[in-house]
Amino acid sequence: MGKRRCAALALATIMAVVMELVSHTVATSRRIMLTNGLGMTPPMGWNSWNHFGCNIDEKMIRETADALVSTGLSKLGYEYVNIDDCWAEISRDDKGNLVPNKSTFPSGIKAVADYVHRKGLKLGIYSDAGYFTCSKKMPGSLGHEEQDAKAFASWGIDYLKYDNCNNDGSKPTVRYPVMTRALMKAGRPVFFSLCEWGDMHPAEWGAPVGNSWRTTNDIADNWESMISRADQNEVYAEYARPGGWNDPDMLEVGNGGMTKDEYIVHFSLWAISKAPLLLGCDIRNMTKETLDIITNKEVIAVNQDPYGFQAKKVRMEGDQEVTKALGAILSKCMWIVESTTKTRYIWAASLSGYRLAVVLLNRGPVRYSATALWDDIGLDPKTVVEARDLWEHKTLRTQFVGNLTATLSPHSCKLYVLKPIG
Ligand code: GLA
Repeated sequence: MGKRRCAALALATIMAVVMELVSHTVATSRRIMLTNGLGMTPPMGWNSWNHFGCNIDEKMIRETADALVSTGLSKLGYEYVNIDDCWAEISRDDKGNLVPNKSTFPSGIKAVADYVHRKGLKLGIYSDAGYFTCSKKMPGSLGHEEQDAKAFASWGIDYLKYDNCNNDGSKPTVRYPVMTRALMKAGRPVFFSLCEWGDMHPAEWGAPVGNSWRTTNDIADNWESMISRADQNEVYAEYARPGGWNDPDMLEVGNGGMTKDEYIVHFSLWAISKAPLLLGCDIRNMTKETLDIITNKEVIAVNQDPYGFQAKKVRMEGDQEVTKALGAILSKCMWIVESTTKTRYIWAASLSGYRLAVVLLNRGPVRYSATALWDDIGLDPKTVVEARDLWEHKTLRTQFVGNLTATLSPHSCKLYVLKPIG
């Protein structure tokens, strides 16, 4: 055999081995996902808890389904109508079945599911890996997993949020997979949302168990709560992928506790973080401002990008400016001058089509400029890009090389999609 032929053969053998290894790795990582075929992009829809708490009934669930269609939200991908806590009677019946609350859900859950399905939407429900749910107003599914999963399947449930209150003290890694198996046995594909609040780092074990996992405690409708959930969720970015998502909790947009700019930051960070986009306001009575935020197609497209890469914070800066600014505003409060809070954050994620999504965020109390450096967001410094501002719906006239700077009001952000050109 000639030397050249020999080298070619060796190269082919090496390539075959490499290919085999790559396909083995892909197959192994696929195999450890929950194989119900759901959640290939983050789920979108609505949930009753953030706005209504326990004040829910079948009428408002039907009206919410109507509103999802009439507002055009369903066409944009918002498909799940999720009933949270408090839908059932406090006791099971004599056969151990969960009983829908007789005064608030008199027609039963199947009738609601049929209604929602006729609208082209999906119905979600809520239970708990404990003896009672968090409200303590209804039983949890611990010890009744198969029976409840069968009931959910027979009613036509498409999504289950599974909470962690009032349990027996055993680990979530033991209690949650029991419901995973029960759902699979019941035979209906159900998006399984683990609501374990991030206690035992569910990002590390959630992929074969559920389609999403909460990484945080409950969100509240204010800036500090929202931004801290985004921070806690970011830590687990590497774990998000089609079929299994980090969940920093549901949206508060439209509930009234934040300014328009703050809600835009909220929606932008959830979108770029590939978080579930579960609306938490009363969508039967929304302002135009709320509707404009949650119907931004370009921002939704970032969230639903087929690659499913969750954004990372690539740079934080601004100690100096915070110190000066607060010092000027509150010159008598010297301890605040010591603050080391960072003010400007750059978040970035790869998108399909060689594009990048970038958020420039000002968390500080005064106007600042923020800069995304190509080096930080993974672009070659010489790359020329076109920048689309997703909140202005404008492609900027200038093309950018090396960096992009924007000036930002307090508690506001820019969300750009960058596309290399030439
Ligand atoms: C927990 C969950 C919330 C909500 C309530 C209902 O606190 O984290 O999202 O479901 O329970 O009681």
